[in-house]
Amino acid sequence: MIHDIATAREAALTRIAEISSLDELNSASSDLLGKKGALGSLKQQLGALDPEQRKVAGQALNVATAEVQGELAARRAELAAQERARRLEAERLDLTESLARPQRGHLHLVTQAWQRLEDVFVGMGFTVEEGPEIETDWFNFGALNMPENHPARSSFDSLFVDWGTPGSTVLRTHTSPVQARTMLAKEPPFAIVAPGRTFRRDTADATHMPVFHQIEGLVIGHDITFGDLAGTIEAFTEAFFGPGFHSRLRPSYFPFTEPSAEFDIRRPNGSWLELGGCGMVHPNVLQACNLDPEQWQGFAFGFGIDRMAKEFNGVDDLRDLFTNDLRFLEQF
Ligand code: PHE
Repeated sequence: MIHDIATAREAALTRIAEISSLDELNSASSDLLGKKGALGSLKQQLGALDPEQRKVAGQALNVATAEVQGELAARRAELAAQERARRLEAERLDLTESLARPQRGHLHLVTQAWQRLEDVFVGMGFTVEEGPEIETDWFNFGALNMPENHPARSSFDSLFVDWGTPGSTVLRTHTSPVQARTMLAKEPPFAIVAPGRTFRRDTADATHMPVFHQIEGLVIGHDITFGDLAGTIEAFTEAFFGPGFHSRLRPSYFPFTEPSAEFDIRRPNGSWLELGGCGMVHPNVLQACNLDPEQWQGFAFGFGIDRMAKEFNGVDDLRDLFTNDLRFLEQF
């Protein structure tokens, strides 16, 4: 009997040492400690022994059983720790991993140009205003000295909104309506810029998009002259593009300014970039916005932000700015 107990103990300990998972351990545990296991059946045989032998064998069996239980518990703790370590490794989140990822994205080139323009003008003392993208006929045209049937209206390929009387609501064709909105809302003197989205019925090509962006400038005060306009454009040109860039004004026509001019930027290599329009605010516009032209004068200018972004980044085709092809955008 004592010999059988030693053998059963030996076999149990060998089996425990070979267990490699908690599942295995659970089934081994019921095999080894259950009634049908080697130790269990020896225990049932105790009854057949005489008292003296039963006492000795019973004690040996208790010791062996306790030892097997102890080994099982120790093995269980070991396997549980291994399991836990494996899970931790598998489910681990490396929060420093993002540092190794490729570069983060950046603002769109047009947004960058827009923000830089605002920065430069704010640095020159302008404040930033905005107006709605959907405008009334009056703000987009009427207030700007283009009464109904004015021929200049047709130079804007306007997109109308199906709202109210036909033709009364338009996707603004330029940011100039913000001139009128500001004059009506603000006490002069003031100097404002108004960047924003504008719309024209244009087919997209290398230099045109049907949805584009402009920035408007308006300065109203006493004794404002054309010289102030030219000086402001020149100061802006140097501040935005850098030293070596200069501006020139060429006579032009806009219904809402008189006199009117187009302004071009001269690159250091001597080539010219046509940028936008400008002029002295037309007395009819001042009057439409409740300002007395005898008291208040001012100048206005407006130009395309997208074209600025295109030039500034050496992009050939405006459409490339908006197709959002990452292979293109990632170069900047
Ligand atoms: N609104 C004009 C355009 O879109 C530009 C302009 C603005 C001209 C202000 C003169 C004064 O072409």
